Amino acid sequence: MNIITIDGPSGSGKGTVCHILASKLGWNLLDSGALYRILAFAALQKNIALDDAKTLTAQALNLQVAFVSNGVGVDTVLDGENVGDKLRTEVVAEAASKVASIQVVRDALLARQKAFYQAPGLIADGRDMGTVVFPEAPVKIFLDASAEERAQRRFNQLQNKGFDVSIAQILSEIKERDYRDRNRTVAPLKPASDAIEIDSTSLSIDEVVAQVLDLVKLKLKLAVK
Ligand code: DC
Repeated sequence: MNIITIDGPSGSGKGTVCHILASKLGWNLLDSGALYRILAFAALQKNIALDDAKTLTAQALNLQVAFVSNGVGVDTVLDGENVGDKLRTEVVAEAASKVASIQVVRDALLARQKAFYQAPGLIADGRDMGTVVFPEAPVKIFLDASAEERAQRRFNQLQNKGFDVSIAQILSEIKERDYRDRNRTVAPLKPASDAIEIDSTSLSIDEVVAQVLDLVKLKLKLAVK
């Protein structure tokens, strides 16, 4: 079974690492965080309370969403509209973290996530890919970095986009979300018992990708260039 799970907090670099791995291996990619963000975005649009488990579950089961390759990346199409950019705001991230803490909502998104596994293989990016969604995956990575480094990366990203932001505020938001994701009772962010932990604090993206590919060659006996 060709599945690589990469779990970790936001800012650990897993999104970029997963994109590079999926393109190098020619495998499918599941960005599970995007599913939680889409659900949260739809809930905000439809004025569904972020703790209304029943309505959120129905919404999760009926999401009309597609991930469509556009040549350079992937468009996230919700009800016919490309909502990719609208999912990346702090408001949506905060709402996603709230809906993600409800067990029945997570259950409702489970089959949709599992369906991403198709030949020749899958890179699964999230918080509980190795622990809950694909416990059978032969290669599991837990990618972490210090909160200060993750805040610095986010600060650089936002500054490059022309936003005037405070690093102290970003750091405090990161710490708050980490605390919620790691301490929730439902599918908390934690390494699977058989995950390999990589600390990317002082590693480049290329160095992380190289480490994962070494593991893939070893465990899956794949020839990767
Ligand atoms: O990775 P991200 O920032 O796009 O994730 C958005 C939110 O969804 C984040 O608060 C954690 C949550 N999430 C989750 O609970 N389980 C996943 N597999 C992926 C994301």
